[in-house]
Amino acid sequence: MELPFAESYKIKMVEAIYRSTRPERETWIREAKYNLFNLRSEQVYIDLLTDSGTGAMSDRQWAAIMTGDESYAGSSSYYNLQEIIRKLFGFDYCLPVHQGRAAENVLFSVLVQKGDVVPGNSHFDTTKGHIEFRGATAVDCTIDEAFDTETDHPFKGNIDLEKLRKVLNETPAGKIPFIILTVTCNTSGGQPVSMQNIREVKELANEYGIPLVLDSARFAENAWFIHQRETGYSGKTIREIVAEMFSYADGMTMSSKKDGIVNIGGFIATRHQQWFEKATTFSIMYEGFITYGGMAGRDMNALAVGLEEVTEAEYLESRTAQVEHLGKQLLDYGIPVQRPIGGHAIFVEAKRFLPLVPKEEFIAQTLAIELYLEAGVRGVEVGTLLADRNPETRENRYPATEFLRLAIPRRVYTNNHMDVVAAALKNVFDRRNQISSGYKIRKEAPIMRHFTVELERVLKD
Ligand SMILES: Cc1ncc(COP(=O)(O)O)c(C=O)c1O
Repeated sequence: MELPFAESYKIKMVEAIYRSTRPERETWIREAKYNLFNLRSEQVYIDLLTDSGTGAMSDRQWAAIMTGDESYAGSSSYYNLQEIIRKLFGFDYCLPVHQGRAAENVLFSVLVQKGDVVPGNSHFDTTKGHIEFRGATAVDCTIDEAFDTETDHPFKGNIDLEKLRKVLNETPAGKIPFIILTVTCNTSGGQPVSMQNIREVKELANEYGIPLVLDSARFAENAWFIHQRETGYSGKTIREIVAEMFSYADGMTMSSKKDGIVNIGGFIATRHQQWFEKATTFSIMYEGFITYGGMAGRDMNALAVGLEEVTEAEYLESRTAQVEHLGKQLLDYGIPVQRPIGGHAIFVEAKRFLPLVPKEEFIAQTLAIELYLEAGVRGVEVGTLLADRNPETRENRYPATEFLRLAIPRRVYTNNHMDVVAAALKNVFDRRNQISSGYKIRKEAPIMRHFTVELERVLKD
């Protein structure tokens, strides 16, 4: 008999979680003004709000924490980190920062000017924010298949080369500082970019003399999908695949809170001494001295170990198998989700799940609240609240897809927890025809409203 699959680690330390009752959850979500960000963590049974900074560190990482070097300058922890970055990505220059958006802030301060255009696959919100904040434009060149949740394309993070070529042709010379590829592409559902696509984007970029930057938050999950799905890569190790991916890039931004498996941190790395030297000025100004940036020495040590662990095939198999375990159950129940199942999260298509809720009443948020009420499971809305208002007309922007994102923290929950999530969502699905109204806004911030918005129920007569 073939042995079944099991995780590549065992559990050494546990944290109690409280299941709560439905009446408790009804009170808590009302007090939270129907915004799941306002819940206290004790009020959540299974927390799938994000996979960012929520992973469990290994015993080796905790051991590395104890040997962190907190020297202001020349910390040995920095050199540990530099060594693994060189080994994995082939970049000689690196700057630690406090998290991914800080990497964007520092690198884009060097590269992005007012009036520039930065094409890529669907840019993450903070990436787009840091481009637009500088008066530049982010142009999404993702393949059309990514926006059709029912198409089973293996690399929905890919760039459409024709769309990209059009942008390169139509933008005046010197106005494209770099192309950015996000691996995996969070916005399209944790969907990977193929090696062929990375290579072809690089070739096109070379034709126009434009550098390529990888937004690398989930680089190892991307490498795993290349290993699994792309012809010619099943015999290669994850580290060989990572090395090839980054051989096409000029530099990278990294949120270490994902595939660094640490709770805070990030970095920039590049092969260009000039980029590094210019970036150090901004890093020193915004983050800290070159050899610690925004990070404590102990955290750099833990990150160095995390980068080793995340590139082990056994770990990645466990990781993606758990996300797949949840996704498959939902598909079996007929629940509409982005296919194929991505690397870090399940994206539930709320419009098809709750067809009776009007779009003006925040469909994905309604679904997120229903799931919380059902079982204390916290997901996050990736829909109209997140899309915010048009800055000029102040009208709500209604995105093509309304998602409830269920992001799975790394090495934190067991498949039993995933089974609870699947059963809870099925219960909500079974009563979907009784859910015909959603929520209206009571109070909102002028920008990034989803974090702090206050809502009230729409009552139907
Ligand atoms: C693809 C991607 N890039 C950048 C970031 C920003 O990273 P951080 O949250 O560490 O600032 C994120 C965070 O979720 C992300 O998913």
